[in-house]
Amino acid sequence: MLTCALFNAAFPLVSLIWIADNVSDTWPMTVSFRNADPLQLADALRQAHVRSMLLFRSLAAAGFDVAGSVPRLPVINPPLWEIGHAAWFAEWYGLREAASSAPSAARHPSLLSRSDDWFDSNTVAHDARWTLPLPSSGEILAYCREVHERVLERLLRSPHDDAALYPFRLLLAHENMHGDAFFYTLQTLGVRPPSQLQEGAPAAAPVAQGGEGAGEEEIAFDSAAFRIGVPPGEGFAFDNEQHAHLREVAGFTIDAQAVSNRQYLEFIADGGYRHPQFWSEAGRRWMAQTKRQAPAYWQDPQAWRCRRFADDIALPPEEPVRHVSLFEAEAYCAWAGRRLPTETEWEYAARSQPGRFRWGRVWEWTASVFEAYPGFEPGPYREYSAPFFGSHQSVRGASFATAACMRAPQYRNFYRAHRDDIFVGFRTCATAY
Ligand SMILES: [Fe+2]
Repeated sequence: MLTCALFNAAFPLVSLIWIADNVSDTWPMTVSFRNADPLQLADALRQAHVRSMLLFRSLAAAGFDVAGSVPRLPVINPPLWEIGHAAWFAEWYGLREAASSAPSAARHPSLLSRSDDWFDSNTVAHDARWTLPLPSSGEILAYCREVHERVLERLLRSPHDDAALYPFRLLLAHENMHGDAFFYTLQTLGVRPPSQLQEGAPAAAPVAQGGEGAGEEEIAFDSAAFRIGVPPGEGFAFDNEQHAHLREVAGFTIDAQAVSNRQYLEFIADGGYRHPQFWSEAGRRWMAQTKRQAPAYWQDPQAWRCRRFADDIALPPEEPVRHVSLFEAEAYCAWAGRRLPTETEWEYAARSQPGRFRWGRVWEWTASVFEAYPGFEPGPYREYSAPFFGSHQSVRGASFATAACMRAPQYRNFYRAHRDDIFVGFRTCATAY
């Protein structure tokens, strides 16, 4: 157990005030975390930490810092567990010098005794996270801050080379991914994000590439050979982005932006959910199970509204549709006489036409099952990708909740087909003949 004078009742409040006052004027950072130098990484880490703390504070204010108050849903974690887990992961790679995620890999003990029993996501089953004998939220927040400050200290003494910076880039990416997960949790639990992080707020991630509003409808590409993935020597790469390799792309056309609510409404109005021919067999099973007749969180077909976090709002017609499962995305495409892009097509389009191909407001389903690239080897975080190959779908892009430093056209996210709690939409594509 971390034993210091920091564990007093006033500490969590003091900590959060300190954090809120230290939001940088330059937030959000726009340098990719993959190539950032130690100073830039330190800045990004501070931003990620502040964001996690602000999001946690919103959840705590709604009473969700107590695990017993959090619904046991497979798509969320108890927030107190999640924030402790992010700090534990940062400590594991950044301070304890673990070469891998194997339980015996840490070279130094944790600042918080028993943290390995509580926060290792490989050994603590999801369901068990609701019943752990965790320390108080004050103690866990103190642990988070202590780890954060020590990681920063160590990072600023690190040599500026990719090998030395790898653990810091990894733990930053991990913290940011859990930041995104906190946003999903807020949406799932109906809690409003802190004002600094609301969509469109100055400190929120930019959505300039977001694919909203009028503009070019389609981009055409000729057949080409394209190198997918991240080649060696280009900074940090996730294991699933390696090895970069050539792929043939047949000519295709692709939407310049994600499908909007207005477009999706046409599908609904045309009976899209009632016509089984638009739905795959798995999609029909999903619909029978969920009784879904519109995207998650939509209500009132007479004058469509949707729930955004804690608020019911009029459906914004020109925003990309979000909270749709893969099945809904596929059904829309079938109705429109189109298809989802493969992840190769998506990445090729995003990298070849960065100005015209607009992305970043919602994640986007692709037609590709998440699979290993040739020559795949698990990275130090061994369970990051390998357990999900074959069972998850590749999702590309970023959402409004994604930190700016994480956005990259090569980045491969992955989810199960039924997930509609996340900020995910899609665009359509067609093979050129
Ligand atoms: Fe994690």
